[in-house]
Amino acid sequence: MQVIEVLREASKQVYQSVKNLAGTEDAAGDFGRGAGGDISRRIDIVAEKAVLDYLKKINFQCVVLGEECGRVELSDNPKGFVIMDAIDGSANAVRGIPFFCCSLAFATDNKLSSVTDGVVTDLHSGDMYWATKGKGAFMNEKRIYVQKSPPIYKIIGVNVSGSSPELIKKLQPVFKSSNHTRHLGANALELAMFARGLIDVYIDLREKIRVTDMAAGYLLVNEAGGFVLDPDLKPLDSDLGFETKLSFIAATNKKILDEIVSQIKK
Ligand code: IPD
Ligand code: CA
Repeated sequence: MQVIEVLREASKQVYQSVKNLAGTEDAAGDFGRGAGGDISRRIDIVAEKAVLDYLKKINFQCVVLGEECGRVELSDNPKGFVIMDAIDGSANAVRGIPFFCCSLAFATDNKLSSVTDGVVTDLHSGDMYWATKGKGAFMNEKRIYVQKSPPIYKIIGVNVSGSSPELIKKLQPVFKSSNHTRHLGANALELAMFARGLIDVYIDLREKIRVTDMAAGYLLVNEAGGFVLDPDLKPLDSDLGFETKLSFIAATNKKILDEIVSQIKK
């Protein structure tokens, strides 16, 4: 079974386990802090269990890096890492805002640039976004690309959640020049929508986002023809550690990138 098929099947298992749980009283609970540093909710735990159970069932030789469960070694001779954010957008999922997803990626080494496969499943609609390095990005069975033609509305995704006043000040010109900034609350799904051509720039400069939230979306954007850069405008890369916190800008082309970068205050 190919790695991408394993991730797709694991993601389907998550969809089945949580589709009737999101937004209900049972979705929440407090299960202490997970490896990623946030409080784990029941929906997070149920979703992670679905992935872990499936990987164990098929005896997939890997090390899992999960946002709640941390590092779980499923083999003495692993093929690589499964980077798991079983629920990205947990606050939305708990409250019942229909924008949350499951993000799973596979990396051969301890670095983001070694991600070879990624799947983001919209856990409200069930739509699945997936990519394998060098083979393109897909939504369900259809090939997807970042927006190529000038859009009617230029949509700028900006993650402002928990931003410092200094960052808001830096981004002020971006907010001022665009009437169409968006913040939806699940980075992985926002990157999937970017890869599908619905968002033109996505900015997260908070130095807060974890690799678990990013890994699959990162591959989707790259495989759909966009790019993901660090704040120095170099291709984004990092280790896969839980302590690692990232900032990045995703853009569909150089022109749009230059325009945005020129607006962000130094
Ligand atoms: C969160 C989402 C959200 C971002 C937070 C993340 P989680 O992931 O990606 O968009 O603003 O920083 O923590 O906690 O729901 O997996
Ligand atoms: Ca999560």
